[in-house]
Amino acid sequence: MERPAILTKFDSLAQGYAAHDYADPPRYLARRAAVVTGTGPRLARGDTILDLACADGNMARPLEQLGYRYRGVDGSEAMIAEARRTLGDGVPLEVGLLQSYVPAEPVEMTLLLRAVKYVPVADRPAFFRRVAGFTRTKLVLDFPPEEEDAAQMRADLQAAGWTDVVQRPFFLPQHVAFPAPLRQATRTLEHTGPLARLVMRFAGIWVWSAVPPR
Ligand SMILES: C[S@@+](CC[C@H](N)C(=O)[O-])C[C@H]1O[C@@H](n2cnc3c(N)ncnc32)[C@H](O)[C@@H]1O
Repeated sequence: MERPAILTKFDSLAQGYAAHDYADPPRYLARRAAVVTGTGPRLARGDTILDLACADGNMARPLEQLGYRYRGVDGSEAMIAEARRTLGDGVPLEVGLLQSYVPAEPVEMTLLLRAVKYVPVADRPAFFRRVAGFTRTKLVLDFPPEEEDAAQMRADLQAAGWTDVVQRPFFLPQHVAFPAPLRQATRTLEHTGPLARLVMRFAGIWVWSAVPPR
């Protein structure tokens, strides 16, 4: 399979990726870990989470701190090298493409953060079917509302047999470091239902969870 051209851009961004892509990496990533694992069915401590398009493996430590095992895969060799440099040899990391990757063992949860856009829309039903083949409990992905057709995404998941699709808003900004009161305000806002949906027209991302076919 031909290497997607976008990976060359990510190769060049690999060094210090989390530090330059997130304004407040420890707080943002810890909160994101709580949100993605808390959306949809519960996991058990020790369950394995596969992070597809993991970049520098920035979710590894936050997910491990919640008691989960972490595996990361990314199409950029430079990103995986950066992940190895920052995480050491104890974390399973592989180079692999969204278009073809299948892990050696099934996992409880597959995670796809800021990366569903790299699966072409026409390929999504097949992608979601392949992910269903190795995911036991849930798939969690995220996207900004303006970037994706949510109805099409839901239809593609359902066409691939996924059920129990749930969504929740996530308002903590990636590029601005909020002080504690504002961080708390975003957390409160996420649970306000109609108000949160209104705010999602201007800011925030959706976090979706889906359950694989039995
Ligand atoms: C915007 S970054 C997001 C990284 C990480 N999930 C995060 O949230 O910080 C997208 C990642 O997807 C990877 N990627 C893009 N296209 C890919 C593909 N076709 N196969 C595997 N990885 C890909 C890039 O190398 C990059 O690390």
